[in-house]
Amino acid sequence: MSTVLVTGGLGYIGSHIVIELGLAGMDVVILDNLANSAIDVFYRLKSMARKDIEFYQGDVRDSKILNVVLSEQSVSSVIHCAGLKAVGESSLKPVEYYQNNVAGSLVLIDAMREAGIQNLVFSSSATVYGIDAPVPYVETLPTGGTSNPYGTSKWMVEQILKDAANAAPKLSIASLRYFNPIGAHPSGLIGEDPQGIPNNLLPYIAQVAVGKRAELSVFGDDYPTADGTCERDYLHVVDLARGHVKALDWVKNNTGAEAFNLGTGKATSVLEIIQAFEEASGVKIPYSIAPRRPGDLPAFWADATKAEKLLGWNAELGLEEMMADTWRWQSQNPNGYRSNAKEAQPDSSVA
Ligand code: NAD
Ligand code: UD1
Repeated sequence: MSTVLVTGGLGYIGSHIVIELGLAGMDVVILDNLANSAIDVFYRLKSMARKDIEFYQGDVRDSKILNVVLSEQSVSSVIHCAGLKAVGESSLKPVEYYQNNVAGSLVLIDAMREAGIQNLVFSSSATVYGIDAPVPYVETLPTGGTSNPYGTSKWMVEQILKDAANAAPKLSIASLRYFNPIGAHPSGLIGEDPQGIPNNLLPYIAQVAVGKRAELSVFGDDYPTADGTCERDYLHVVDLARGHVKALDWVKNNTGAEAFNLGTGKATSVLEIIQAFEEASGVKIPYSIAPRRPGDLPAFWADATKAEKLLGWNAELGLEEMMADTWRWQSQNPNGYRSNAKEAQPDSSVA
């Protein structure tokens, strides 16, 4: 029983986790409904993997498909990435967000209970600290006070998981609070492929760099930060994925529910990101200063000491790698997975 189920395993973060699990010698089964991903991701993962990968197309809210997966595969642990993640959209479609993120998690833990699976790693977010938390964010701070249904859904699931672990002493759950994951796999085969206009900074910059968008709008330069633009804790998605392998070790050897920040502990401004991207890519990014984006916080970053102490994890890759890998992915796949998918070949030195 050593197979890991990754829900949402064809998404941006899930696909990088699948690669790292394979490198750590684990078999993987993916459940994904393709709501925000493409089947080509699976073909690419298969071509890169050293271990077996199975894929089931299905919805995490569907207990029937979950029961099929858990009875056909020898699953011992679950990494739960499936969910909806667009903050702005969550205010327009709150019911869909609570259904996918909260109800989906409930159906999953119920199916795990029936199958006798005790180990769970959950994709949470730094957003659970709410809008008034002091920086750096540390796990001992109170959570809640979130400002949108997306953030509230992550907060709710964390509470549900804590209660579930209190009621079932064998359960072991790690909620990983991601800061700002960016970058792509160094092979250039796997990366972030947002549908429509990107909401997040790095995908937008990358699309400006390949000429798909004319210029970047920098949302506000009058924040109380060193250069006036917002600061975030950007971390490489491969570091983040490695954090899941460490968290899996932790859940296998502990019980109860714990939350862990996964961030670098460093804050970087929007203007610093533009400069770092230009240096890594050699491409000039035209930008103009636009009004603040409603809901943005001036600056937040992680205190990642707990993950270092308990998981033995810290971020190893710097801004340079984050930018170079984003650029490699975007320049080799200007239209994401919709272009040249079948011709893609793995780079065997990194996969
Ligand atoms: P993503 O959209 O790329 O991946 C999510 C995957 O889940 C997609 O492949 C999608 O098709 C699938 N999915 C969605 N709803 C599903 C459902 N009901 N059943 C089955 N599959 C479903 O997003 P991501 O960036 O890879 O994020 C993964 C997880 O991490 C999400 O839970 C997200 O909320 C969380 N997270 C992401 C970030 C970030 O910056 N990307 C930050 C904090 C937390
Ligand atoms: C956003 C979400 C957060 C989520 C995270 C990762 C909001 C308010 N928060 O975080 O809950 O966990 O994405 O998915 O949406 N920026 C620009 N121009 C752009 C895009 C962004 O200047 O075109 C700036 C933003 O103002 C921000 C920084 O870049 O200061 C990072 O933005 P983004 O990548 O969207 O991440 P967050 O806002 O931190």
